[in-house]
Amino acid sequence: MVLIGPPGAGKGTQASILAAHYHIPHISTGDMLRQEVKLSTTIGRQIKDCLAAGNLVSDSMILGLVEMRLQQMDCRQGFILDGFPRSQVQAEATHALLERLAKPLTAVVQLIMPDEEIVTRLSFRRVCSECTRTYHLLYNAPKTEDCCDVDGAPLIQRADDTENSIRNRLTVYHRQTEPVVEYYRRTPLLKEISAEGEVNSITQAILSALAKVAA
Ligand code: AP5
Ligand code: MG
Repeated sequence: MVLIGPPGAGKGTQASILAAHYHIPHISTGDMLRQEVKLSTTIGRQIKDCLAAGNLVSDSMILGLVEMRLQQMDCRQGFILDGFPRSQVQAEATHALLERLAKPLTAVVQLIMPDEEIVTRLSFRRVCSECTRTYHLLYNAPKTEDCCDVDGAPLIQRADDTENSIRNRLTVYHRQTEPVVEYYRRTPLLKEISAEGEVNSITQAILSALAKVAA
């Protein structure tokens, strides 16, 4: 399945819960790219500024990374794509790729959230520098200040969680990713879910939409 929605809608939060529920991998293209930057690989050095500014990296680069990832053994029973596809080119290439791999999509879950809420969600986000677990200083604070509950590693703010970058990511979302939502609206795959409210109630709404697909 695909989880699609604006920055800060809770794609990563929901994807990790759903991945544990269904025992399938959570594939976040944002996490994959940030790992390249962290390790300062050739790709990482090329995309560092693009990520910090909140622009999309090239379709060819992301498609290459996703194609390799989907061929790994842990994707045999399914996978959750978080933040991919997010351009029309990526959506069309994904369709062709999944046909070739005989892994058709079951659903595309759109998390819907108004722009005003997004800056608050992202300005207070902190992420673990080791395991990428996500916290929120107001809604989901760590037990010990600035430390991950799971591995005790320091929490950091993402380079693209500045006000300028957040606003640019929203513009990019409206311009380049909303056409992907429209692309999936023309198929039976799209499930629209409000991303406002408690994390658990949003998870329940997604699970019940997916249960109807499976039925
Ligand atoms: P990516 O990492 O995908 O970032 P994004 O789309 O901007 O989304 P975020 O990760 O910021 O938000 P989220 O929806 O995951 O929310 P979260 O669960 O963390 O992409 C980053 C960059 O990588 C892109 O800008 C681009 O440069 C590049 N990139 C990635 N994919 C690409 C692609 N396919 N093509 C080209 N370039 C690509 O939640 C946010 C906060 O809210 C957290 O603090 C969380 O704790 C809190 N929260 C979550 N749910 C709730 C709730 N219900 N109530 C209260 N708080 C909540
Ligand atoms: Mg995310």
